[in-house]
Amino acid sequence: MISAERIPNNVGLSSNKRLQRALEHWQPKYIQWWRDMGPQGFQDYHQVYVRTAVSVDPSGWAHFEYVKLPEYRWGIFLADPVHDRRIGFGDFLGQPVWQEVPGEFRNQLRRLVVTQGDTEPASVEQQRWLGQRCPSLYDLRNLFQVNVEEGRHLWAMVYLLHSYFGRDGRDEAEELLERQSGNRDKPRILDAFNEPIDNWLDFFMFTMFTDRDGKSQLLSLSESSLDPLSRTTRFMLTEEAHHMFVGETGVARILERTCQLMKASGFSEDVRRLGGIDIPTIQRFINLWFSLSLDLHGNEVSTNAASYFANGLKGRAYEDKWDDHAVTEAMYDLEMLAEGRLERRHIPMRTAMNEVLRDWYVGDCQNGVTRWNKILERHGISDRLRLPDRKFNRGIGMFSAMHFDPYGHALSDEEWERRKGEWLPAPSDREYLLSIQAAPVYEPGKFANYIAPPQRGIKGLPVNFEYVRTEL
Ligand SMILES: [Fe+2]
Ligand SMILES: [Fe+2]
Repeated sequence: MISAERIPNNVGLSSNKRLQRALEHWQPKYIQWWRDMGPQGFQDYHQVYVRTAVSVDPSGWAHFEYVKLPEYRWGIFLADPVHDRRIGFGDFLGQPVWQEVPGEFRNQLRRLVVTQGDTEPASVEQQRWLGQRCPSLYDLRNLFQVNVEEGRHLWAMVYLLHSYFGRDGRDEAEELLERQSGNRDKPRILDAFNEPIDNWLDFFMFTMFTDRDGKSQLLSLSESSLDPLSRTTRFMLTEEAHHMFVGETGVARILERTCQLMKASGFSEDVRRLGGIDIPTIQRFINLWFSLSLDLHGNEVSTNAASYFANGLKGRAYEDKWDDHAVTEAMYDLEMLAEGRLERRHIPMRTAMNEVLRDWYVGDCQNGVTRWNKILERHGISDRLRLPDRKFNRGIGMFSAMHFDPYGHALSDEEWERRKGEWLPAPSDREYLLSIQAAPVYEPGKFANYIAPPQRGIKGLPVNFEYVRTEL
């Protein structure tokens, strides 16, 4: 049995018996899943200094304390309602938002909630071995912070499924715990969530690029006409910001250390000799994770995306910054691949909504890469990191039909096979990363050789604070 107090919430859980019963049934399965598929080796004997969402008050929404991970208080929070909120886009523009799911959009909405929900536990599963190779206690704590919050995001989607989707919703909530990342019979829904993440460069790239796709999706869902979906995703964005911070600063600190090692070796490119991560390796991981995360935004031309927009289910990022919210006439200038040739065509913007969201995403990623390049500049190193062209290494969308180099030039299959090792991580790159991450660093204030310490600690605490402590 759980009591409503154990689940911090602002949805009146204690007075909603039906929902409370549903969650009482689901919660033990969730905890079992967390134990089986969550951080391996960090369940019972470690206390982690994490933040827990306890309200939606912007000035103090989180509480920081040591907890054992399985005892984390996964809560349910909706951002405060907006008075007289109106549908902000699509065919029902200007009408009052929905507090219940309209029957005709039930399947589409359920699919959106389930697809979002599925990514949350998937990432926890992908990252479950990383704690054994952490570069510091500070990083270990950040990993677990991301993990518990992805767990809470699963709770957020399960809350919606239980509250608004009846019997099917309950079934979907069960299945969210049954699918498993990388499982051959019951894999997670999206491909990028089925690859294990077993080294910290992959982890930082994942939180930089793939969590940022999460931000794309949450931004567009927070525009939704289904008000509870909008409110729950709006609050999730608060937590998501930290995940991308972990990714961006993680790579930045690796880069900082790489620059130091390059200098120490007389500007030698051979940083691996000193146990660092060389710039070309970092670039290959950017190429991989950026392209995988572009795929997560879906097909360039999509009738599904058009109908999500028309029906008011999924808007554009920051919809209020656009002038035209109906988008019945507007066209979009899209680079297309038609019969093996690249050309620009005007297509109705509604059918290009995935691409519109991808545009926002690319810009947001570029800002991060620009900040990384400042580090290289500051150290007087002339190399620059860059995002590959969006046609590069695509598995979804029209560009997946052909090969392109990172500059967007088309390649023959033969050329691609010959050269892809220049652009994408090779097994030997991952072997190298595992070799320098073989021994975890569990001593407060110590950092692995390949990464610089952060500029400051968590919540005003010193960098050498014992962010994870062992309880014997
Ligand atoms: Fe999430
Ligand atoms: Fe996240």
